[in-house]
Amino acid sequence: MTDIKELLLSRIRDVADYPEPGVMFKDITPLLADPAAFTALTDAFAEIAERTGATKVVGLEARGFILGAPVAVRAGLGFIPVRKAGKLPGATLSQSYDLEYGSAEIEIHAEDLSADDRVLIVDDVLATGGTAEAAIQLIHRAGAEVSGVAILMELTFLSGRPRLDSALRGAPVESL
Ligand code: PRP
Repeated sequence: MTDIKELLLSRIRDVADYPEPGVMFKDITPLLADPAAFTALTDAFAEIAERTGATKVVGLEARGFILGAPVAVRAGLGFIPVRKAGKLPGATLSQSYDLEYGSAEIEIHAEDLSADDRVLIVDDVLATGGTAEAAIQLIHRAGAEVSGVAILMELTFLSGRPRLDSALRGAPVESL
C-alpha cells in the first residue's frame, strides 16, 4: 500500500451500527482533524483536478463541501456546491435519484457553470453511485463537461463505479 493510502486509512474510523444497526459508518472526522492527512488528501485531489483539466470543483453535500473547497483553492479553481433540494436560493437545476426506499433530489445553481467548464466532482464516499450519477447528470444538463470524479473511499461491493462509468463520457473515477 502506498504511504498516502496508509496515512488516510489510518485516519478513518469505523463506527459500528451507525446510523442504524448493521451499518459500518466510515467516519472521516479524525482525518479532518489531522493537518498532515487533510493536506495529503487535498494535494492528491488537486493533482487529479490539474491532470484532468478541471476548470471548476463541485462538492456534494455535505462532506464533499469540506473536502472539495480546499481542493478548489489549492488548484486555483472556483467551487460550486451541489445541495440537497430546497437549500439553494437562486435558480436551480434539480435531479432526483432512487434510494433503497424512496428517492432524493439534489440541486445546483445553473448559472455557476458554462459550456466551456470541465468539472471535477469531489465527495467522501462512493457507495451505490446514485448521488454522484445525479451530479454528473446535473453538470451535463447545465451544458458543462465532467473532467472526473474524485472520491476518498469507494465501497466496491455496492458497484457504484460501473454506474458512473456509463454516465461519464470517458472521464475517470479516481478513488484514493
Ligand atoms: C453519503 C456520502 C455520499 C453518498 C454516497 O452522503 O457522503 O455523498 O452518501 O452514497 P451513494 O453512492 O449511494 O449515493 P449522505 O447522503 O449520507 O449525505 P450527507 O453527507 O449530507 O450526510
